[in-house]
Amino acid sequence: MSTSTFKVSAKCLFACFISSAVLVAVVVIATQLAPSAGGSAGTGLRSLEAEFYRWREMDAPEFATETGVHTYDNTVEDFSMVSLETRKAIIDDFITRLASIDTDHLTTSEKYSYEVFNDTLSTFSSNHQWRFYGPLNPLNFLEGDQIDPAYRVRLLKYETKKDYEKYLSRLQLWPTKLNQYITRFKEAAKNGHTYHRVSVDKLPGQIQELLVANPESSAFYKPFTTDLDKLTVSTSDKTDIRSRGRQAVMNLLDTFRKLKEYIEQDYMFQTRTTYGVLGLPKGNDLYRACLKWHISVDLTPEEVHEKGREEVARISSEIQTIMLKRNYTGTVAEFYKQLKEQSQFHLNSAEELLKEYRHMVYERIYPHLWRAFKNIPNLNVSVEAMPNDGTGGKYIAGTADGSRHGVFQVNLKRPNETNTFSMMALTLHETVPGHHLQSVYALTASLPDFQRNIEYEKYFAVPYHFPFYTAYTEGWGLYSESLGEYLGIYKDDNEMLGRYGEEIFRACRLVVDTGIHYFGWTRQEAITYMTDHTPIGRTEIESEIDRYITLPGQACAYKIGELKIKELRQTAKRKLGSKFDIGDFHSQILENGPVPLSLLEKIVNNWINEVSGNAATSSGGGSM
Ligand SMILES: *[C@@H]1O[C@H](CO)[C@@H](O)[C@H](O)[C@H]1NC(C)=O
Ligand SMILES: *[C@@H]1O[C@H](CO)[C@@H](O)[C@H](O)[C@H]1NC(C)=O
Ligand SMILES: *[C@@H]1O[C@H](CO)[C@@H](O)[C@H](O)[C@H]1NC(C)=O
Ligand SMILES: *[C@@H]1O[C@H](CO)[C@@H](O)[C@H](O)[C@H]1NC(C)=O
Repeated sequence: MSTSTFKVSAKCLFACFISSAVLVAVVVIATQLAPSAGGSAGTGLRSLEAEFYRWREMDAPEFATETGVHTYDNTVEDFSMVSLETRKAIIDDFITRLASIDTDHLTTSEKYSYEVFNDTLSTFSSNHQWRFYGPLNPLNFLEGDQIDPAYRVRLLKYETKKDYEKYLSRLQLWPTKLNQYITRFKEAAKNGHTYHRVSVDKLPGQIQELLVANPESSAFYKPFTTDLDKLTVSTSDKTDIRSRGRQAVMNLLDTFRKLKEYIEQDYMFQTRTTYGVLGLPKGNDLYRACLKWHISVDLTPEEVHEKGREEVARISSEIQTIMLKRNYTGTVAEFYKQLKEQSQFHLNSAEELLKEYRHMVYERIYPHLWRAFKNIPNLNVSVEAMPNDGTGGKYIAGTADGSRHGVFQVNLKRPNETNTFSMMALTLHETVPGHHLQSVYALTASLPDFQRNIEYEKYFAVPYHFPFYTAYTEGWGLYSESLGEYLGIYKDDNEMLGRYGEEIFRACRLVVDTGIHYFGWTRQEAITYMTDHTPIGRTEIESEIDRYITLPGQACAYKIGELKIKELRQTAKRKLGSKFDIGDFHSQILENGPVPLSLLEKIVNNWINEVSGNAATSSGGGSM
């Protein structure tokens, strides 16, 4: 069976953001914030933002580690029940202090930053009412401590004795966190706020993989092997560190075993019976809150569902037009299936595939960008082989000083399984004008740390969590696929079919996510809908659906974000007529970094007013 590149962007979400969070952090050192032009109100804002970010690093030590800050490597995040209350109190204090800043005296970009800050804080605080839902279910088959421990361990430093003491301390505290998970899961069960079984079915097996018989072969023990040999301390110190490491790893594995037994023997029998959250007490309101958190704009589940159906119909008819031209009479799914099997859409070697991706980026896309973009930061992207197998491609951000390029990693492990007709849509999405361009505009815009480093973790906690603005980032990625059309880059119907395949898949998510969580669809109904309307294979669809069941609202961010950007462009074009400049429009979207869609709308409206000479309503502070 062939694995199409559709798989790629669908699954990219987790992997690609983890990597970029780590790498983007390095940049912080290289770029200093531009001095505030807004005077003391601006200074007050910047210092409050900085204080908030320092608190975030302390409060989420594993996240700090991931961003390259090693101050808190000796500790773990607090998952006690009481932390659900204390964090709210801390955030409310920041909100009070933010409210005392006089927004009239901020520059436009400071006003936008103020809004993002306010949104970050108030999104968290206002969703405190949902603390006994998602946050009580801290592990699922998609995320948690059981996934890729080798990666987590690798993020720490192991250069000095002190580094080792920190890691030992984190290892020793880790079991406390796992025990806190158990307490939370028990609370979830008591309240009837659990996952559906599909979200946790794989969990015991995933934990089992960590439970090696000899602690010295555990991923958690790895730093005590060859890395420790290299450390310049006495042999007796090494022996001491090793023996404490071994003990800590043993305790940790014991607690993982206990966690696994709890899930298997207890939680599993208390999982909710409905696939969607609508079966939970106040489930419809919960879904509305999750949806709002992910899409960052006010749309009802009904509206999202309807938009999804409209988009599916529109894109289907584009696909059918091409099918008709070819006298093809089967279904969309059958049409794509026979297309994928044609040898003309396969390359046979890794070298050819890599060459083709590079050709697309440097020769087929870059030369056209000037027609839709201005002041493009002079930071190149490189195209490289992905070191491991996994998704078909992902983007990893570079640094603002250019010392490290942004990288488009492409999977070359199974070259003949990539469908060449889908490669262009993927390339536009991940590189230029997609995630690479988005990243370099934001990198060179000198954003404050809390806007620059986003913790793309703990999806389970939504909506009681700090927002990610996925609708903006992934909305831009998908919008970039449509820019390929504007720029005339897709060379034929086949590449357009690749593009439509990617797009219809995102449109279906709106229908299916709302279907499951709001309209009470069964898993089978969701699978049938996706099978009927997308080119994706059955196995892939099933794991997609299980992901939607686990993370209500998340899958809606992509298409909603793209539709918003398209809508804003239409509005601007209609209002500005001949004064509309697409390059300036894109600068407005990209130069403020990731923001909620509601703010993106204000940014564009302010710009429209400015360009049309109606500056009176430009970036009005508190009224924005
Ligand atoms: C489709 O069918 C029509 C009518 O039979 C025929 O003229 C045309 O050549 C066919 N097109 C293709 C691409 O096979
Ligand atoms: C970007 O990098 C590629 C690959 O190294 C190179 O071919 C291209 O000329 C570079 N573009 C610019 C503008 O430096
Ligand atoms: C791809 O290549 C592998 C190894 O050469 C081969 O086993 C497999 O059948 C090929 N798959 C397709 C779809 O051609
Ligand atoms: C901050 O956000 C809250 C909640 O959305 C809103 O009510 C308030 O008006 C915002 N404050 C400012 C100054 O924009």
